[in-house]
Amino acid sequence: MTQENLKEEILRLKREKNALIMAHYYQRDEIQEIADFIGDSLALARKAAQTDADIIVMCGVHFMGETAKILCPGKKVLVPDAEAGCSLADSCDPKEFAAFVAEHPDHTVVSYVNTSAAVKAHTDIVVTSGNARKIIESLPQDEKIIFGPDHNLGEYINSVTGRRMLLWDGACHVHERFSIQAILDMKKAHPGAKILVHPECRRPLQMVADKVGSTAALLDFARTDDAREYIVVTESGILFEMRRECPGKTFLPAPAEDAECQCNECDYMKMSTLEKVARCLREESPEIIVEPELAAKALRPIERMLELS
Ligand code: 13P
Ligand code: SF4
Repeated sequence: MTQENLKEEILRLKREKNALIMAHYYQRDEIQEIADFIGDSLALARKAAQTDADIIVMCGVHFMGETAKILCPGKKVLVPDAEAGCSLADSCDPKEFAAFVAEHPDHTVVSYVNTSAAVKAHTDIVVTSGNARKIIESLPQDEKIIFGPDHNLGEYINSVTGRRMLLWDGACHVHERFSIQAILDMKKAHPGAKILVHPECRRPLQMVADKVGSTAALLDFARTDDAREYIVVTESGILFEMRRECPGKTFLPAPAEDAECQCNECDYMKMSTLEKVARCLREESPEIIVEPELAAKALRPIERMLELS
């Protein structure tokens, strides 16, 4: 089947089944093109909480589908590929995290949304990179806080808020690979370019950034800022929406440490294809299932996030 035929089938099935197709900014260009809604993790969670569709197709990674299912237990949540995980979520084993939490009973537990439902169940408040600063700043200055699993995001929040949160030592394999030297070399070659950095990148990269933010915050900065050129230090899928929204500007993908591979791509995010979206709508599978007792425990900290942001 051609790409055009696949797109037609997806649009027809979507209408017939009252399905909503959501996509993260790191998805392949052709997936972003057919999506009803594109967003960062926060916007995807908010949209899932509000939709009146019967079926949600979450084109992203597993924790995004799981979050949507926890927020909408009565809806069918489908994902194009059930194997699309997240190295950052995998860097936080629920049992080890529970033990860490138990060692610090006087701490409030704040977890990044890039976690399994089992980790969220041990959490007081979930955050995304789009609202972490605001939520941490809303807590009393002397509140003791555990933050996990992303160490780089935790360090960033500590630096901008002056907190001393206890950090879990997790990371994203894509964002950890960006090379400070390569980015400084790019800046030398493009002195007018501004540097946009996702907070999952290591601290030296955060420190040379003109803007540190979630995918939506980086897009917003590019849209409203007056520079003509940007070095983009995050997964390269974001370039599709940046170029679409800012046609007169130049966006340069930042290279990762190993120039031999496409290291600025998240292999999990790229597992969604048009073929898989069409098949999952046709077969209504793979479906995300979260055991109700676990879902109820994971829902509380997600709702807390939505209230606070
Ligand atoms: P955002 O919430 O900024 O879209 O990030 C999600 C993610 O997986 C980053 O790697
Ligand atoms: Fe997870 Fe990193 Fe991929 Fe984002 S880019 S989904 S944090 S592995």
